[in-house]
Amino acid sequence: MELSEAIKGRRSVRHFEERAVEEEKIRSVLESAVWAPSGGNQQNWRFLVVRDKAKLKRYAQIIERTYRELVEKFGDERLRAKLEGSIFGYTLFEDAPVLIVVVATAYHSTSATLSAKKRGEPVKNGITVAGISGVAAAIQNLLLKAHELGLGACWMTSCLVAEGELEEVLGIEPPDRLAAFVPLGYPAGEPPKLKPRKEGVIEFLD
Ligand SMILES: Cc1cc2nc3c(=O)[nH]c(=O)nc-3n(C[C@H](O)[C@H](O)[C@H](O)COP(=O)(O)O)c2cc1C
Repeated sequence: MELSEAIKGRRSVRHFEERAVEEEKIRSVLESAVWAPSGGNQQNWRFLVVRDKAKLKRYAQIIERTYRELVEKFGDERLRAKLEGSIFGYTLFEDAPVLIVVVATAYHSTSATLSAKKRGEPVKNGITVAGISGVAAAIQNLLLKAHELGLGACWMTSCLVAEGELEEVLGIEPPDRLAAFVPLGYPAGEPPKLKPRKEGVIEFLD
């Protein structure tokens, strides 16, 4: 597959066939993820592969319960009104044959350290913008490779609504942090619609 075709043809897939994904394809997708660039080549990521339906259900239940509680407690009118319809965007991974849990691991940033010292703030060598950027690049690689292999995937950060509890259940300990859930599987149903991109976001400052 041509690179431009992969970049433009990839869509977020939210409906999956029940059929299992071959382990070699899962490995191939993750192999592409780890070839992403990372600040200082720190490769500050980990990937957990979950295929057990009961585990996926448990994570989905945690997320739905937390999301409902938080919307009821802190949500405005608009958020409350769309609560039922929005739950799918939080729990859709439950019906995928594979869930890839992306974990951001500690990232030691010289620039963030110097900048924190200048501000007299404590140095945080955990999760920084630079650290997360590498993890994001890995996720994009993963999505593109999945698309090339005829698989569908969806980058999901809505799971972070319950990050603390999920980290506990998944055994993710500080300084590591949950970064995303990425369900993976063979796409089912209608292909997702193309979402046009915004114009006017590119500026040459010559
Ligand atoms: C950082 C990030 C977080 C996202 N989180 C979710 C999510 O929690 N649930 C979901 O259904 N889609 C999620 N998406 C998918 C976006 O909705 C999707 O990429 C966007 O609508 C563009 O559609 P496309 O990926 O098909 O081009 C996320 C995408 C990104 C990059």
